Parts: sequence; structure tokens; C-alpha cells
Amino acid sequence: MNFDDSQTKINLARAFSAECQDGARYQFISQKAVSEGKQNVSTFFKSLAKNEMAHAKTFWTLMSQHLSKPQRNIEIKAGYPFEDGSLMEMIKSASSTEKSENSTIYPSFAKIAEDEGFKDVAEKFKLVALVEGNHFLQIEALYNKLKSDCLYENGTPYEWKCDNCGHTHTDKKAFETCPLCELTKDYINLTELVNTKA
Ligand SMILES: [Fe+2]
Ligand SMILES: [Fe+2]
Repeated sequence: MNFDDSQTKINLARAFSAECQDGARYQFISQKAVSEGKQNVSTFFKSLAKNEMAHAKTFWTLMSQHLSKPQRNIEIKAGYPFEDGSLMEMIKSASSTEKSENSTIYPSFAKIAEDEGFKDVAEKFKLVALVEGNHFLQIEALYNKLKSDCLYENGTPYEWKCDNCGHTHTDKKAFETCPLCELTKDYINLTELVNTKA
């Protein structure tokens, strides 16, 4: 099939738009978290935003590799979430976007790309879907811990790490203030914590 006339071209344009918006929303969440003093939540979303922009770049590159010539405008019909709100509401919305990208949108885009004969595009959709699945699990874990007010507690001893100075301390509960640099627990690194499976 000619790529210029394919559904895969449209799906790549939609995926590019979605990833740009995910990246933008995560930067907004990151800014909101800073304004509420949650430095570590901010850092966590900043790193997700970086992932989303890398996905956007991947889709952008595939588009330019497959188009017969550059196109001034590609029309798409698509819906995107606009769910502003509290920090918690925005985190919840992010989690459901990740879930639908992982379980519905990108798997269906991959199938269409395969059927149309664009195996390289199908492969990228599948790889991005896997990352979005991890994002979903991480964001969901973070949301649940924040909601139940147990972000700084763990069922088993955990190595809490200050993102600022690198100090670590292993315990079921995190330190309130880092004994080394004296910043609050809001600087404790969250990445590993939300990777921890229940
Ligand atoms: Fe993404
Ligand atoms: Fe994501």
C-alpha cells in the first residue's frame, strides 16, 4: 500500500499529536507539583514528559521516512483530553490516558500498520505501548499512595534516597528531613518507589 494514502499515515499523525500533548500535560503537572511543594512528584512527571517527547520524535521521524514528500498539512480527526483540575485530578487523568494508549490505541494502530505492510511502524507502536503500560502502573501506584497518604511508608524496609544529596536510609518509614542536606522528604526519589509491586 502507498503510505501517503494509508490509515497508518493518519495514525502516526494522531500518535505524534497525542505524545506532544502528553509531554505538555506532564510538564503542567510538574509545575503544579512544584507550586504545592512536592518536588519529587514534579521530578517524576518531568521524566515522564521526557519519555513522551522521545515517543513524539520517533513518530515524527517515521512519518518523514515514509512520506513520498514533505506535507504542509495532514488533516486528522481525533479527540484529546482537556482535564485540568487539582494535582490529584490531573494525575488520575494521566493514568487513564496511559491505560488507553497501552491497551487500546497503540495495539490497534500496530495491527493496522501490520495489515497495511508497514512492519517498522507496527514495531514502534508496540514498543511505545509497552512504555505507556509501565507509565500507567507507575502513575497509578503514585496516585494510590498519595490518596491514602502513605507515600512515605512501605510494607517492607525500603531504601529512601534524597534526590538532592544522595543520602540513603533503609526503613519502613522515610525520614522527615534529610539528615545530610536538611531538605524535607519532598525531595525523596519516587521512581523506584512507584516501581515497587504490591
Ligand atoms: Fe508516550
Ligand atoms: Fe506515557
